[in-house]
Amino acid sequence: MEGEDNVAGMSAANEAAGPFEGFVLGIESSCDDTACAVLDAEGRVLSSVVSSQLDVHRPFGGVVPEAASREHLRNWPAVSAAALQEAGVDWSDVGAVAATRGPGLVGSLLVGLSLGKAISYSLDVPFLAVHHLEGHLFSPLLRTDGASRSVPESMVGLVVSGGHTSLLAVDGPSGAVTSLAETLDDAIGEAFDKIGHRVGLAFPAGAEVDRLAELGDPAAQPFRVARIKSDELAFSYSGLKSQALRALGEIEAGNGGAEGEPAVAAGDDESWPRDVLDLLAGFRRAAVAQLIDRLDRLSEERPVERLSVSGGVAANRLLRREVAAWGERRGADVLLVPLRYCGDNAAMIAHAGLLRLRRGDTDDPRSADAESRIPFR
Ligand code: KG4
Ligand code: ZN
Repeated sequence: MEGEDNVAGMSAANEAAGPFEGFVLGIESSCDDTACAVLDAEGRVLSSVVSSQLDVHRPFGGVVPEAASREHLRNWPAVSAAALQEAGVDWSDVGAVAATRGPGLVGSLLVGLSLGKAISYSLDVPFLAVHHLEGHLFSPLLRTDGASRSVPESMVGLVVSGGHTSLLAVDGPSGAVTSLAETLDDAIGEAFDKIGHRVGLAFPAGAEVDRLAELGDPAAQPFRVARIKSDELAFSYSGLKSQALRALGEIEAGNGGAEGEPAVAAGDDESWPRDVLDLLAGFRRAAVAQLIDRLDRLSEERPVERLSVSGGVAANRLLRREVAAWGERRGADVLLVPLRYCGDNAAMIAHAGLLRLRRGDTDDPRSADAESRIPFR
């Protein structure tokens, strides 16, 4: 990757070391989760600790970057101590350090990356500055009970979260990653969050919108699946979001509520108006159908033997059912990320780092830098 050239002496030291046999410490701080994990050389997750900052950001309805950086600094000592203790590993047992270098909030990234660089430098062990999406992309290879699966020679990855809606391809024995498609506007998780916020749910609302959508009838509130004429694989969620918000306004007006007010105060399931539940179900169906539509288009362009599905939105119940059915229809092997590694975590960063370490593709801890935007080419 660009800007990550190894310093000659360091990479020679890594290559001379032979196959890696120690423990990898992973650090993730790209947004509002402070995470630390320990993996062994086979990719077994010995610990994965994630400290959420949601209580700090929730009153603002989104992540406040300045507060996030401060919280990472505050949380790190306890999070790292818990990860090492749970894994039964001492600092002196750490054989490599992997930290997220981007994309994300630069102030947040700098905290985790700087800690990772300092730890690697002081322990004199290899350092890996990991692309956050690479962490998600390979996370379906992690298992909840055992060594990670080996990387397939060819794989397509769908990464769906609050910040990303990306279709990626992994090709060849070196696992080179290229971008096939991105969202042109909102990420899918962002759309779930905005709709959820509008009906009075707490941020981030995706999981709760998903749960409530199970209670509604999607056929009663259908939405069109967005298509982009100029780029058949590109994603777009702002149109669907606007349509759903407009439909909510109409429901509110019809129910005698004031426009702009939440359709109903979030309460128990019985208190939700049927038309709101139907709308959430219709929105979810169109959001997921867009992903399946792009997978269909892609498989008409190139064979997709293996599909990895990851990111926070990969916890979505409908998406999990639909990609499994898609795999059966298309004869593709679908690797779904285990639920516990859907959201941001450091196990996926340690794991992506381990894959690069096995190829001797390490970074210099003195010069690795955080970047808020790093496209895959
Ligand atoms: O990967 P993640 O933890 O952080 C980012 O990198 O963004 O993803 C968080 C996103 C949020 O937008 C959240 O609302 C969404 O994932 N999410 C869901 C579900 N669970 C989490 N969206 C839809 N259905 C879910 N079950
Ligand atoms: Zn993420």
